[in-house]
Amino acid sequence: MPIVTTTEMFEKAYKGGYAIGAFNVNNMEIVQGITEAAAEVNSPLLLQVSAGARKYAKHVYLTRLVEAAVVDTGLPIALHLDHGADFDICKSCVDGGFTSVMIDGSSRSFEDNIAVTRQVVEYAHDHGVVVEGELGRLEGVEDDVVVSAEDSSYTRPEDVQEFVERTGVDSLAIAIGTSHGAYKFKPGTKPQLRFDILEEVAQRLPGFPIVLHGASSVIPKYVDIINANGGKLVDAIGVPEDMLRKAASMAVCKINIDSDLRLAMTAGIRQHFNEHPEHFDPRQYLTVGRDYIRELVKDKIVNVLGSDGKA
Ligand code: G3H
Ligand code: 13P
Ligand code: ZN
Repeated sequence: MPIVTTTEMFEKAYKGGYAIGAFNVNNMEIVQGITEAAAEVNSPLLLQVSAGARKYAKHVYLTRLVEAAVVDTGLPIALHLDHGADFDICKSCVDGGFTSVMIDGSSRSFEDNIAVTRQVVEYAHDHGVVVEGELGRLEGVEDDVVVSAEDSSYTRPEDVQEFVERTGVDSLAIAIGTSHGAYKFKPGTKPQLRFDILEEVAQRLPGFPIVLHGASSVIPKYVDIINANGGKLVDAIGVPEDMLRKAASMAVCKINIDSDLRLAMTAGIRQHFNEHPEHFDPRQYLTVGRDYIRELVKDKIVNVLGSDGKA
């Protein structure tokens, strides 16, 4: 099976009340940990690459790694550009073998967001590639761009139909209170998401796949291992898993996870070095990092996303 697009995946996920995990990849061990977990539980997958990942690992290495994972597992896997900032990076990924791209015009005016998204959709669709757009703005850090709480904004449900109709996007990321990174909610407050906005968006766009960014749970187990082994993660708080399950049962078909992968891998490696300070072979500690990612992703697929058995 070649790398696939998300059209069929999302249709099935919408009808089945589950979501596909969109995991960020930056190197071989991350690709292997995620895809081996998905193979164990027979789950479809999205692997996504940010501009920062392309800078770190190079486009060609990441596409080849994902192609290798498809050969190795036989799973339906889509290769997606995460947070494309402009037409040029989207075009480069369409030309370079991705099957899905995100054009993130969420920091632009409504009209500018529509214009750039439309431009990407025209090019991508001509090449058989699907497009994710974004309306509303998440707080947090992406590629060193920091969006403050004041500059973040929930999606306005009254805008979504016009945006989807005028751009022709295949899926839409919305802002309902999640944010990027490991520090999502104020300590001592109860995490809350605007499910009313998700509900209203779903009513206005029946059957249309919605995307949830900033969806790491910042699982305490990994934070504790990091801190017990010399790390300093104070007040790291993520999205509670029951909220993600609820979103997956609604119109959300794609759930983006990066920070949890970073935390799991770092926890494994930190613990390994504490137990084996004499080690210096990267295969020893990267094996542990990869094992931690495999365990994390399997748990996400089975206990949160519900995409096990759907490949
Ligand atoms: O949404 C952002 C993702 O976590 C990617 O992060 O830009 O540091 O690779 P990055
Ligand atoms: P997290 O930082 O919550 O993992 O979000 C990742 C994301 O939205 C990638 O686009
Ligand atoms: Zn994101």
